[in-house]
Amino acid sequence: MGVSFWDDPYPTYKSFQERSAIFWDDALEVWVVTGRDAAGTVLRSTAMSSDWLNIESASREFPELEQMLGGWFLLKDPPEHTRLRRTMQSWFSRGRADSLTEEVQSVVSTHLDRVRGLPTVDLARDFAAPVASGILARVLDVPDEVTVTAAEHLASVARFLAQPYRREFAAQAADAVDQLNSLYRDLAPSLSRSSVLFPLLDDDSLPPDTYLHTAHLVSFAGQETTAGLIGTGLLHLLHRPELYKQVAEGQADLEAVVEELLRFDTPVPQVPRVALSDVVVDGRTIRAGDRVLVVLAAANRDWANSEDADVLDFAREQKNIAFGAGVHYCLGAPIARRGALTAIRDWTATFPETLLSPETVRWAVGTGNRGLESAVVQVA
Ligand code: HEM
Repeated sequence: MGVSFWDDPYPTYKSFQERSAIFWDDALEVWVVTGRDAAGTVLRSTAMSSDWLNIESASREFPELEQMLGGWFLLKDPPEHTRLRRTMQSWFSRGRADSLTEEVQSVVSTHLDRVRGLPTVDLARDFAAPVASGILARVLDVPDEVTVTAAEHLASVARFLAQPYRREFAAQAADAVDQLNSLYRDLAPSLSRSSVLFPLLDDDSLPPDTYLHTAHLVSFAGQETTAGLIGTGLLHLLHRPELYKQVAEGQADLEAVVEELLRFDTPVPQVPRVALSDVVVDGRTIRAGDRVLVVLAAANRDWANSEDADVLDFAREQKNIAFGAGVHYCLGAPIARRGALTAIRDWTATFPETLLSPETVRWAVGTGNRGLESAVVQVA
């Protein structure tokens, strides 16, 4: 059986970059941006809008879905974006991520204890996903069950966002939004002051339902991404026993390990934009109204400027843009880094003899994120 795009998308991304750092795709009717500098230029350009969902979206027929996505600051431009992002920025600052260190440690330890002694463990389902949900639960300061349930519903939203023209996906996402609205509405009265969402409650200066919309956004943005980094990161190490051993024995610089894994297999492979006015990128003119897909995964491998882009090398100089760039730069980056570092360090140290069953590896398909659906290992 051949290797599918989902198993290894990098040969396809490489062929994109070999074509050009930026090109117009006739079939998809979108500019594809693959070069690192071109990607940075697009993401930092004020002529590029994140309000791309206005084009060809089947969400029109589903007001609850429209309203929810209409409230995500991820999909807004300044000045509205700036105002909403600012309400959470201080919470997400490096200081808060550092103070979460102990809580992240406790989440990881709990899930390591749960899998210890099991005959087989699914890296994705039994470890990466619950660790990501646990970390998110600490950010929102809610019980783990809330983020686990939210993740189930948000899978439909992710599928819709990956293919927003599909009516059936919009219908499923709208159902999910109903469920999520009840979940977060029920939580509001008991939300603690340490929740990232607390400042959004009862703030009359904010648009209505900002609390609900932002709860959805943070849950969406933090779950599959963090789980993806932990699961794929461990898998890539398992494929390279000498590197796995280095990490397990504490011989590797863990921050460099996490950055290299972010570069090597980027959890958010692409981000969309739409041009507000004509803009020239790498000599090509993007016209107002054109859609643009920034392929972070291609930009991170950066074959054009690197001879060993396909090698996992902790010592390389890092220039990855896995968390984006410009005004939408990921708010959760310090937390995601801390979570992945702790999970990868403690898993490898606890289970130095982990044995992968390669035939069980399944990659997520059509979710918009890069991550594992399952990968079974023996840890004993
Ligand atoms: C490995 C894990 C993660 C990766 C790779 C990642 C990646 C990204 C990227 C690429 C963007 C920019 C999207 C764009 O420009 O359109 C983004 C935005 C965002 N991320 Fe993350 N993310 C991760 C984890 C998290 C976590 C754990 C949280 C929250 C707890 C989070 C919250 C957000 C938010 C709120 C935004 C929107 C920022 C804005 O629009 O101003 N992310 N993330």
